[in-house]
Amino acid sequence: MSDWTSSPAGPLSGELRIPGDKSISHRAIMFASLAEGTSHVSGFLEGEDTRATARAFAQMGVRIEAPQPSERIVHGGGLLGLRAPEAPIDCGNAGTGMRLLAGVLAGQAFDSTLIGDESLSRRPMRRVIEPLTQMGARIDTEQGGLPPLRITGESALRGIDYESPVASAQVKSAILLAGLYSDGETRVREPHPTRDYTESMLRAFGWPIECGPGWAKLRGGHRLRATDIEVPADFSSAAFFMVAATLLPGSKIILPGIGINPRRTGLLHALRAMGADVNGMNSRNVGGEPVADLIVRHAPLHGIDVPLELVPDMIDEFPILFIAAAAAHGTTRIRGAAELRVKESDRIAVMAKGLRELGIRVEETSDGAIIEGGRFGAAEVDSAGDHRCAMSFAVAGLVASQPVRIRDCTNVATSFPGFVELANGSGFRLQADA
Ligand code: S3P
Repeated sequence: MSDWTSSPAGPLSGELRIPGDKSISHRAIMFASLAEGTSHVSGFLEGEDTRATARAFAQMGVRIEAPQPSERIVHGGGLLGLRAPEAPIDCGNAGTGMRLLAGVLAGQAFDSTLIGDESLSRRPMRRVIEPLTQMGARIDTEQGGLPPLRITGESALRGIDYESPVASAQVKSAILLAGLYSDGETRVREPHPTRDYTESMLRAFGWPIECGPGWAKLRGGHRLRATDIEVPADFSSAAFFMVAATLLPGSKIILPGIGINPRRTGLLHALRAMGADVNGMNSRNVGGEPVADLIVRHAPLHGIDVPLELVPDMIDEFPILFIAAAAAHGTTRIRGAAELRVKESDRIAVMAKGLRELGIRVEETSDGAIIEGGRFGAAEVDSAGDHRCAMSFAVAGLVASQPVRIRDCTNVATSFPGFVELANGSGFRLQADA
């Protein structure tokens, strides 16, 4: 288990190459594996989470070559081309991997088991099991709807019209994936629009789908055809540097090729409302996704009430927003974000505790927090094995009065391999214990 020490540092500068988008990398492997023919994936995230998904399909007989880092050549065998895995499939730390795979495996002719690490084994799976069961899937879990998931094959699936109680792209995607194997029409409605990568990718792989903000529908009985996927840089990974450069006087960084899908960029709006100076340049389209180069300069921040409608569009960015809020002048109020309690950790509890240890006044609520801006003092904080909390506390260390020690940072490799090197190259003073 690796601990880090993040020490106060000077301004950040330079052009930073952020690794590929995690959500898109998972889906690229899945759709390419289920397609007929050979797909080339470039910009693939070499993170533990996405590599676990690639391993899962390799375990089910899909030939996946890695000619060089961040590239995969996937020889898909079609919708029914998977074969029974000989051992349980290990999704590691990845909720996306497990929930989307549940949708795929519900439609197979063979039995399978999905397992995960300690964190994933505590995360709720009923949200996908309920709709999949309505579609005819047979899935057993541990008590409380927790992993492992034991999926019985040869279930005849039928389309459903599902109104999801949670705004979750993972739930929507699991249902749509099972819909590929179902008789009739599958329709999903969500309480608030979520990231639409599954819908875009289905279209790119040639499957007819109709969708709009907050809904999607498709019918079974088509084919996926191989295509090439270019994965943009991950906005969620870029977010740590956006906040770091904003907080450190004299900073100016460029983040090239960042995916700016509107369902991901809630943090941009929140930071700008707090006074941040982030500009998009060279807006373009990469493989159907909007992408831009982001330029971030230091700017003083002030607290805001985070608008409720932004919450789903920045759901992965709350750990770093907690840091921005704690370094801002005045009070920031976050509500409507109860989902944070069932992420890789209980992110409200982990961030509130860490900030208190850093000397910040935080009131934790059931679905958010009230954060009073202040100055970070010296402390030892616990990331609780959550990659995004670890990287967020590393940013706090940059602007603290003394070095900040962060426990349990190993899982940063799930989403951001090379974070320490990239951070230090841009001006951080971040040291990882051997
Ligand atoms: C993801 C969806 C989000 C997000 C996660 C990735 C995806 O989860 O938090 O990091 O790739 O679909 P929910 O759909 O559970 O909100």
